[in-house]
Amino acid sequence: MKVHIISLFPEAFESYFSSSILGRAIDAGLFQPVFYKLHDFSEKKFGQVDDKAYGMHGQVISPEPLSKAIHHVFQIVGRQIPVVYMTPRGEVLHQSQVETYYEHLTDDFIIICGHYEGIDERIIEKYVDYSISIGEYVLTSGEIAAQVFLDALVRHIPGVLGNPTSLEEESFSKKLHRQKEYPVYTRPEIFEGMAVPEVLTSGNHAAIECWKQDNLS
Ligand SMILES: C[S@@+](CC[C@H](N)C(=O)[O-])C[C@H]1O[C@@H](n2cnc3c(N)ncnc32)[C@H](O)[C@@H]1O
Repeated sequence: MKVHIISLFPEAFESYFSSSILGRAIDAGLFQPVFYKLHDFSEKKFGQVDDKAYGMHGQVISPEPLSKAIHHVFQIVGRQIPVVYMTPRGEVLHQSQVETYYEHLTDDFIIICGHYEGIDERIIEKYVDYSISIGEYVLTSGEIAAQVFLDALVRHIPGVLGNPTSLEEESFSKKLHRQKEYPVYTRPEIFEGMAVPEVLTSGNHAAIECWKQDNLS
């Protein structure tokens, strides 16, 4: 999976993408993020990419540098590819949609991270295939939202998770009927006077399965 990320702050991805599971997925070539700094596509003084919003306060990301960046990526890839825009106005992300996006976004795709009051609507009309929100609240810019979306997506790529079965059976998975997972425990068996539920240490697999079903929420 190769994702072309158009952002004002590509450096915001560095820490997360160089650590843990995402870092290993990148090292293994399973996930390839490529960054495009929006300022590099500006034709204005000092690389300005925003302008005053019409009819309201605030700044909006101008259409020209965004369209230039998008066409630049299309040219590099050699074809038109899906474009995602992270926005609180988009479809709120749920696990079932992550699974659908994973099916649709297998090869190259673009993610646009917004800032200020967002991006000019005409870019959305002309280029954006999927407008995605990570929840009903407003962040200052799209970089964190893009990382949330990509993390949820990338863990579906075969080989990314050490234990692929954890993907099948976890909160909101089909196998758990889209419910929240049962509580989980590890050693020690007794911690600060609290014991692990007896059934989990019994070795009785059928009873453990029943316990798990009973403890979904
Ligand atoms: C300050 S927000 C713009 C909010 C916009 N004026 C509104 O009210 O819908 C700036 C950028 O942050 C990103 N963003 C903020 N909240 C988000 C969310 N819940 N989901 C996805 N992206 C978000 C988007 O890329 C957005 O363009």
